[in-house]
Amino acid sequence: MSDPTPVSAPGGGPVPSAEPILKVAGLEAGYGDIQILWGVDLDVMAGEIVCLVGSNGAGKTTLLKTISGLVPATAGSVRLDGAELAGAAPDAVLAAGIAHVPEGRRLFRTMSVRDNLLMGAYLRPHDADLDADLDRVMTMFPRLAERARQDAGTLSGGEQQMCAIGRGIMSRPKVLMIDELSLGLAPRAVELLSETLVEVNRAGTTILLIEQDVMTALEISDRGFVLDRGRVVMSGTPDVLAEAPEVREAYIGA
Ligand SMILES: Nc1ncnc2c1ncn2[C@@H]1O[C@H](COP(=O)(O)OP(=O)(O)O)[C@@H](O)[C@H]1O
Ligand SMILES: [Mg+2]
Repeated sequence: MSDPTPVSAPGGGPVPSAEPILKVAGLEAGYGDIQILWGVDLDVMAGEIVCLVGSNGAGKTTLLKTISGLVPATAGSVRLDGAELAGAAPDAVLAAGIAHVPEGRRLFRTMSVRDNLLMGAYLRPHDADLDADLDRVMTMFPRLAERARQDAGTLSGGEQQMCAIGRGIMSRPKVLMIDELSLGLAPRAVELLSETLVEVNRAGTTILLIEQDVMTALEISDRGFVLDRGRVVMSGTPDVLAEAPEVREAYIGA
C-alpha cells in the first residue's frame, strides 16, 4: 500500500506522517516513593517543533529524563518510530535516535568546543561522515566555528547553549529534546537560538522543547503541551494555547 511518489509540503519540507515519530503513552515515573509523572500522553509528529510548558516543578525535566532512560519509567510506553524504548538504558535511547540537551547545558568546561561536539557522537566511529557532520554544525553555528579550539567553559551562556545543541545534533537524532532553551540568557541570545532551532528543524530534525518563556516557545512551535503536577492538562496549536485562560494566567501573566 505504499505510495511510490515522493510528496513534499508546500514549503518543500517533509510531510508529517500519520503516525507520530515519538509517542509517549501513560508514562509514570518518579524518585523513590515519590511519583512525579501520572500517566503522561504526548505525541510528536516527524518534522514538528513541539513545546512542553508548565510551571516550576511540574515535571518537565523528569519527563525528558524518563524518555531518555535517565529516570526509570514505572509504567507506560515511549515509542520512537513504533519501537518501544521504555526501560531502555540512556545509551540505547540515544542510539535509537533521541538526543537530550540537558537543563544547564552540562558541557565539559575544560574541553574544547570541538571536543564537546565530538562527545555528542561518541557512539559513532570517527570517520568522514563524522567530520562532515562537524562541518555542518560549525556552519550552522558560525560562533562555534570561530571558537572551536577554545575551552567550552569560556563561552558566553548563549554560545554554551549552541554548543550543547550542536553536541545533540552530532548524534544525528531523529528527535532532539532540549530542556530550558533560554534559561538565564539575554534576550538577543534567545532570539539567535530560536532562529537557529528553526534552521535545525528545517534541516530535518524533529524537536521537543521545554521552555520557561511561553511566548518564545509558542512563537517557534507547531504545537504545545501544558504539563501541570505531572499531568498533561492541555495541548494544541500556539494560537489556542496563547489564548487559553489557564496558560495566560499561569505563565504569561495576562
Ligand atoms: N532527583 C530528584 N529527587 C527527588 N525529587 C526530585 C528530583 N528531581 C526532581 N524532583 C522533584 O520532582 C518534581 C518535578 O521536578 P522537575 O521534573 O525538575 O520539574 P520542572 O522541570 O517542570 O521544573 C519537583 O517536585 C522536584 O522537586
Ligand atoms: Mg526543569
